[in-house]
Amino acid sequence: MAHLRGKTIVLTGSSSGIGAIAAGKMARAGARVCLVARNAGQLASVRDEIEAAGGKAWIYPADLTIEAELAACAEAILAEHRRVDVLINNAARSIRRPIEQALDRLHDYQRTMQINYLGAVGLTLKLLPRMLEQGQGQVVNISTLSTQVPIPLFSAYLASKSALESFSRSLQAELGHKGIDVTVVHFPMVRTPMSNKTSIYKHMRMMDTEAAADWLVKAVRERPARIARPLGNVSSVILAALPGPATRYTQPLFRLMDYRLKRKLEKE
Ligand SMILES: NC(=O)c1ccc[n+]([C@@H]2O[C@H](COP(=O)([O-])OP(=O)(O)OC[C@H]3O[C@@H](n4cnc5c(N)ncnc54)[C@H](OP(=O)(O)O)[C@@H]3O)[C@@H](O)[C@H]2O)c1
Repeated sequence: MAHLRGKTIVLTGSSSGIGAIAAGKMARAGARVCLVARNAGQLASVRDEIEAAGGKAWIYPADLTIEAELAACAEAILAEHRRVDVLINNAARSIRRPIEQALDRLHDYQRTMQINYLGAVGLTLKLLPRMLEQGQGQVVNISTLSTQVPIPLFSAYLASKSALESFSRSLQAELGHKGIDVTVVHFPMVRTPMSNKTSIYKHMRMMDTEAAADWLVKAVRERPARIARPLGNVSSVILAALPGPATRYTQPLFRLMDYRLKRKLEKE
């Protein structure tokens, strides 16, 4: 099992939610954490909290959907740190919208791809040469349980996460023998600003951010190919073997779940 002490970990999306909590945990375990997100003020408070507890953190405010900002962020990280041991592509946005309500909203699909897929791939391409020079490195890409299950209403978000999973497989296949490990993390629903945007999820049972952040620590310590719930893994096997029935027969269950969550909200 790898330890975190002295490792330089680049963690995107660390101004809020899972990323902010994971940054603190990694710093407490002795990692040097490079925090990336747009909100400089929030990044600074995550850094200040880490430093107050005796940890080491640096901030790199950047909008990863803007190529020049992504490049400047990577350049600054590479200039300030001799090694980049781990890159965690955690920054993302989610959109919950039925496809029928997105007929004139191609930008939903462009926006999710821009950050969830291209932002992650862009930063990977910039930091990969340093990992190859070192002869070792790890890329952790954050996905969701929902790519393992035929979930409706998140087509733009899930397509971008599936693209990232596919890129992850190619990266592992091509560069595993050069010391690059790739981990895909399939989070279930987690109580964060992202999931709080959907009001009907108020009464849904979710993982808390502490437990989700522990998954990221485990990803770096153990470097597995995947971290997921058994339910997600079983479901993805069924979906691969029987895509038609697995998709058709589960949709009434998802509609029932939404109906029940809506009823609970209305009763408040
Ligand atoms: N919450 C869930 O239920 C859930 C479930 C499955 C998977 N996930 C995945 O878990 C990861 C963390 O999500 P979370 O729930 O912790 O969400 P969150 O609290 O909304 O955090 C998202 C992070 O991404 C950053 N970000 C967004 N757009 C960016 C951009 N253009 N450039 C740079 N940074 C950007 C945000 O910071 P700024 O706004 O400061 O830029 C923020 O730090 C995501 O990959 C998400 O898809 C979450």
